Amino acid sequence: MKLNPYLTQKREYPLFIYARKAEELKAQGVDVINLTIGDPLDDTYPAVREATIKALQGKTNSAYPASKGSKELLEAVSDWARRNHDLNLDPTKQIISCNGSKEAIFHAAMLFDWSDGGEIFIPSLSYPVYENSAALHSIKYKYLPLTEENNFLPDLDAISDEDWQVCKMFWINSPHNPTTAIADLEYLQKLVDLAEKHYFMICADECYNDIHYGPVPPSILDTKPSKNWILFRSLSKRSHMTGYRCGAIMSLNEEIIAALIRMRAPMGQGSPTFIQAGAIQAWKDDQHPKDFTVGYRKKKKMLQNALEEKGFKVFGGGASFYLWFSHSEIKESTKILDLFIEQGIVITPGTAFGPDGEGYVRMVFCVTEEVCRKTAERIGKLNI
Ligand SMILES: Cc1ncc(COP(=O)(O)O)c(C=O)c1O
Repeated sequence: MKLNPYLTQKREYPLFIYARKAEELKAQGVDVINLTIGDPLDDTYPAVREATIKALQGKTNSAYPASKGSKELLEAVSDWARRNHDLNLDPTKQIISCNGSKEAIFHAAMLFDWSDGGEIFIPSLSYPVYENSAALHSIKYKYLPLTEENNFLPDLDAISDEDWQVCKMFWINSPHNPTTAIADLEYLQKLVDLAEKHYFMICADECYNDIHYGPVPPSILDTKPSKNWILFRSLSKRSHMTGYRCGAIMSLNEEIIAALIRMRAPMGQGSPTFIQAGAIQAWKDDQHPKDFTVGYRKKKKMLQNALEEKGFKVFGGGASFYLWFSHSEIKESTKILDLFIEQGIVITPGTAFGPDGEGYVRMVFCVTEEVCRKTAERIGKLNI
């Protein structure tokens, strides 16, 4: 039996390669600091843990969770959107829950008919799942160049009308992983206008919007009402819930949400009922991400100062818990990586995120303050 060609390539999920590298060094006895994966190590918002425990204690039996999410969960998401974005989303027709945004992002392309062609537009540096999903589903995709010159945002004016004709899905991730670039509202509105004109679906991945150090990053929810976007939000980073697996998909396009409900019903179930109980508390509260950000700001400053003292150029930094940087005298990402590994620090080369990553690296700072301090000290000892 022939395997899907994507699987015979035996490609490893790019972000796991460097996490594995950290494990290998640890096994060799190196005192490793692993700054490769955006997995917050600080505590989950306590109300989430309390509600989850209570939900578990109040149940003696089990039951399948609804795959689209409980009524209370969907209402909590709808209330969150009204409070934060002044937008009324019908919890029964415009929102569904997902088991973290990764799987939802991966499956999104299955919504559309690709038999008549069409392409997915993906930033040339991005969360690998957009490309992995397109490749596994044998859908053509086009990388849109991200460079320092275009502030690491796809240049919408550089896309020709012929190219727009083939675009069916467009991934936009703002605040952006790995570069931390933020699209302003004008940019998002322009994208929405283009989507309506050329009839494609914007897939907005916004899992870092609540971790910001300046103005609140605009959301696709803030643009003029349109049926041409699907939004993927996650509690993973916002509420330190990566292990809980709960997020939400939203769209003003009710046909899309109805299709997602049909598509996802045979795929599996929703997040476990007790996780949904915790998630409701996370959506209900807007203060805890702000509180988390106080700690992140301190960690970011500590590491950014250490990097800049060594001559690194740090880009963006208005949101998320990533530092994206380069060095004018070191042109290859792996050379930068090697310098850090000499000091027992493992980070991710820009090349893991796509074709325009050469020369850049990404470091996470969602680790404890103690680890950040230790990292800053070691950066001071880098052999540059
Ligand atoms: C840009 C981006 N989107 C989506 C995700 C998926 O997050 P989760 O599945 O935990 O919601 C991540 C995780 O690192 C990410 O960086």
